[in-house]
Amino acid sequence: MPLDQNVSGTILVADDQAANRELLDELLSSEGFSVVTVSDGGSVLEQMNLINVDLVLLDVMMPELNGFEVCTRIKANPDTYLTPVVLVTALSDKQDRIEGLRVGADDFLSRPVDRTELLTRVRSLIKLKHRTDELERAESVLFTLARSIEGKDPYTHGHCERLMNYSVTLGEHLGLPKEQIVALRRAGIVHDIGKIVVPDAILLKPAKLSPEEWKLIQEHPVVGERICAPLKSFRTVLPIIRHHHEKCDGSGYPDGLRGDAIPITARILQIVDIYDALTTERPYKHAFSITDALHTMKQEVAKSWWDPQVFVEFEQLVRSGATDSLAKGAAAGRAKS
Ligand SMILES: [Fe+2]
Repeated sequence: MPLDQNVSGTILVADDQAANRELLDELLSSEGFSVVTVSDGGSVLEQMNLINVDLVLLDVMMPELNGFEVCTRIKANPDTYLTPVVLVTALSDKQDRIEGLRVGADDFLSRPVDRTELLTRVRSLIKLKHRTDELERAESVLFTLARSIEGKDPYTHGHCERLMNYSVTLGEHLGLPKEQIVALRRAGIVHDIGKIVVPDAILLKPAKLSPEEWKLIQEHPVVGERICAPLKSFRTVLPIIRHHHEKCDGSGYPDGLRGDAIPITARILQIVDIYDALTTERPYKHAFSITDALHTMKQEVAKSWWDPQVFVEFEQLVRSGATDSLAKGAAAGRAKS
């Protein structure tokens, strides 16, 4: 079978045996790949922080951190989880493959490594990685746009980052599936991207908004949904963007949804959005203490604005101190709780 020569990329090879490293290095370098070799699991994680890796070839049997443990860490890190990992093992043990799948490995190779099999698998996975990279670039354009909108308002500095961290922590605490956690992470950054259509004079107005100005502000969830809709990977983020200003009693916007009809991810983002708005200084208000913010939110829960269960869980997290390290930049101007 002719091999596709048009794929290149950086491959990180990890093996504690020098002879194995050299063999893979020689095979891959001669095919035009850029190869970096390391001899232990810790160095894999270090290198992945330093260079842009397109694929990892990971020996399973390594001292200290073995291949399974390294793979688990790569797949748990939001910065590296999309990098394909191929486990290389001398064992054709079924149990090993099951364990490999459990830790998120993308493929397997058995020793002795067959050249054609190696190159075919590597090229196919790197092609896939390059497509994912393109998608990531589109995402990063959206993130940059969202952050530049946030950056217009000195009062909301760091708001997106805090929202992302608070909502992911709360989502994980509530046991949400991974897909929804990823959606919360993205929504934390882009939920207000629709504010791009709101003129700065309105967005930054230190006085009360006129009914017309308020109407324009209320369009931002629908506009945001429209901006992000073309990205398929944002499918689960769209309901959060659209519904982050609904209220449980149906008095919110844009659709006046009630109670459970509001997606759980949107109800989570609402809670942390309100909390962050209350605990930071804004042109129209001082920063509330944590106690005062929670007290105000409790009153709003009693008015059926926010999900009572989600609020109770968030309150628990805040009181346990689990959110302290996430409140970066929010403490300035906040009264002592
Ligand atoms: Fe908003």
